[in-house]
Amino acid sequence: MLEILKYPDPRLKEIAEPVSDFGQSLHLLLDEMAKTMYAADGIGLAAPQVGEGLRLFVIDLGPGENRKAKLHEFINPVLSLGEGSIAFEEGCLSVPGVTEEVKRHEKITVRYQDRNGKRLEMTAEGLLAVAIQHENDHLDGVLFVEKLSPLKRRLLKKKLQKAVTL
Ligand code: CO
Repeated sequence: MLEILKYPDPRLKEIAEPVSDFGQSLHLLLDEMAKTMYAADGIGLAAPQVGEGLRLFVIDLGPGENRKAKLHEFINPVLSLGEGSIAFEEGCLSVPGVTEEVKRHEKITVRYQDRNGKRLEMTAEGLLAVAIQHENDHLDGVLFVEKLSPLKRRLLKKKLQKAVTL
């Protein structure tokens, strides 16, 4: 199992590098990330959250309405944001115990590569679109708490520091 970095670890603020090697070590990392995500009860996990500065993330929304659990792997994703907006109560494995409503694009298209380097494209909406945008932000060192107002963020930081010292 991999260790999940927690806010405000400075490594979560770094910009991740594109993946160029689609060999064994990439596959191992993806497998370990999926295991870590499932064990932590998350629906998404980006490589910077486990201390790997690479542009990739995994998502599995789990079973739900009209949907079976399915593991998605996105490597070197590039997003095109579509129309419509949607608000979800978001949480993050790197910001435990905190959820906040975040507004995002309802529909997106993502071009990416799979674990073998094959180029693919997917259009997503709803929760999957939200998850892709949230995870993609991690690749650029952006956490969802930074989308909150400065006041809310200050309160949150206090709360987190308190939680850590307890
Ligand atoms: Co997150």
